[in-house]
Amino acid sequence: MTTQLRFDDRVAIITGGGGGLGRSYARLLASRGAHVVVNDIDRKDDNGLTPAGAVAAEITGQGGSAIAHDGSIAEPSAGPAVVRTALEAFGRVDIVVSNAGIVRDRSFAKMSDEEIGEVLDVHLHGAIGLTRAAWGAMRERQYGRVVLTTSVAGLWGNRGQANYASAKAGLVGLGRTLAIEGAKYGILVNLISPGAATGMTAALLPEHLHERMSPEHVAPMVAYLCHESCSLTGEILFAAAGRYARDLIIETAGYENNAATVEDIADHLADIMDTTSWSVPSQAVQLPSD
Ligand SMILES: NC(=O)c1ccc[n+]([C@@H]2O[C@H](COP(=O)([O-])OP(=O)(O)OC[C@H]3O[C@@H](n4cnc5c(N)ncnc54)[C@H](O)[C@@H]3O)[C@@H](O)[C@H]2O)c1
Repeated sequence: MTTQLRFDDRVAIITGGGGGLGRSYARLLASRGAHVVVNDIDRKDDNGLTPAGAVAAEITGQGGSAIAHDGSIAEPSAGPAVVRTALEAFGRVDIVVSNAGIVRDRSFAKMSDEEIGEVLDVHLHGAIGLTRAAWGAMRERQYGRVVLTTSVAGLWGNRGQANYASAKAGLVGLGRTLAIEGAKYGILVNLISPGAATGMTAALLPEHLHERMSPEHVAPMVAYLCHESCSLTGEILFAAAGRYARDLIIETAGYENNAATVEDIADHLADIMDTTSWSVPSQAVQLPSD
């Protein structure tokens, strides 16, 4: 059996770490020795604490090491600012978990420009900005673990979430490309597709499932992807309610005909769609075999 996987001296950035899933990730990594930079929005509660400040205080109160960065990751200046916070406080960046998120659900016909823009800005542009800001520091050290957050909505589609699904599917393209580019620098990039009862979802889930769908059941998968012993890259891992699985984008063996007409496509649709034989493309360029 694997001995305890620890993160001593590793420096982890977690966006949206002030609540829900991000808080669980921050607490788990810190409990195993990581220095954690908790980012979340700059909004104070009745005690004068920001979400990130409260989680950082919770971690340090339990003997862990954490610092808060208060500010929306959707701001173009936020990625560099969070990385600067990590470098100034702890001297390096080893782990980046882009987790911050919002929803602005509405049918596609009625969705406003703002509802599309806000969601893309937090999920997709926020993750791009932060990862890009950390990339140089990780490349220099020839080490990095990046976890981006996708969703069943982005992978499979969901009514009323055209904005959110676009952002979450965009993160898959980002993650798979960064996995290819990061490989020679020791930077591994994976995606988590989580399911949990949180501020975002609890009202949509029956109450009897809340405990079974605690964010604590997702955190071990994310922590594993952040560990130095993890060699996966470019993968999409599902974690919800105590079930852990690999999500795949596959390509069927299909139908080959270098002179195919529209009618040939119609006649061979069953072969094209047949999933008896399939592969998992590892990158965009797959030249035809002889
Ligand atoms: N809960 C689920 O079942 C589920 C399913 C699929 C994907 N996700 C994804 O997991 C991630 C975490 O979601 P959650 O369920 O914990 O939601 P949550 O609402 O409980 O937590 C999200 C956190 O992100 C923070 N946040 C929002 N906008 C931010 C911004 N601009 N900058 C910094 N922080 C910001 C919030 O303040 C909050 O603390 C999100 O990316 C979400 O889309 C969640």
